[in-house]
Amino acid sequence: MSVWWGRRPAELPVPSDQPCVELLAFGTPDHDDGIIVDLPLDTPLPGEPLITVCLEADGGRVLEVHVGPIVSPGVPPLWYVEQPQPSARPAAMLLIAFATDHRPEGSVVDEATFKQMDVHSNEQVGAVRWYPDTGLVHQLYVSPRWRRRGIGTMLVAAAGAYRAARGWAPIWSDNTRTDLAEEHMRSLPDPFKDRYQPRTSVMAPPSDDPAG
Ligand SMILES: CC(C)(COP(=O)(O)OP(=O)(O)OC[C@H]1O[C@@H](n2cnc3c(N)ncnc32)[C@H](O)[C@@H]1OP(=O)(O)O)[C@@H](O)C(=O)NCCC(=O)NCCS
Repeated sequence: MSVWWGRRPAELPVPSDQPCVELLAFGTPDHDDGIIVDLPLDTPLPGEPLITVCLEADGGRVLEVHVGPIVSPGVPPLWYVEQPQPSARPAAMLLIAFATDHRPEGSVVDEATFKQMDVHSNEQVGAVRWYPDTGLVHQLYVSPRWRRRGIGTMLVAAAGAYRAARGWAPIWSDNTRTDLAEEHMRSLPDPFKDRYQPRTSVMAPPSDDPAG
């Protein structure tokens, strides 16, 4: 299955209440994988979007990411903090998920906004870090008590949403991962699973991980 993206002006009101452009992901054979096509507002959608992204109309900042139940059913409502790390080597992107009620579901806040909020980073439920230039996922982590609720899948899909929104490289994983990540990868729906190389090397779990 390929995943292509339709772009259209958002029908207000969207939860962020800002003028925005929507990117909608579909898993149909209508277009090649990764292609973005313009969708006129009066065109019927080819199905329920897998992922919906709201981008700031003039600046292109990601305002919201909604991963649909087809990709990750039964996930608790999450909101995100984005942390671009342009001076890391290689340059990286970190997306951290929270399940508190400080922000509406799907909202993305930047670091400056997060610093003003009454939320501590240790309240995070999970995070994904990847390299935008190559798409390689460097870290995927979900806090033990939040596992098996679809959050890992949601984070990988959210990284894919950023890739489409920013024109970055497709998300993939190399051949080294933990046992938990291998179990997780096996469950991913196509085509996400196809973006993981077969595992040839086992990574040790994080040293402070109780499930390790
Ligand atoms: C790998 C990890 C991120 C998965 O996160 P998660 O939020 O639990 O994953 P999901 O809930 O999205 O899992 C989706 C599916 O993957 C499979 N899966 C995930 N963890 C599994 C496990 N421990 N055993 C068997 N299947 C598992 C299941 O099919 C699951 O669906 P189900 O719960 O409906 O059966 C998490 O286990 C983790 O943080 N592990 C420690 C850090 C780590 O190993 N990171 C990877 C480094 S390479």
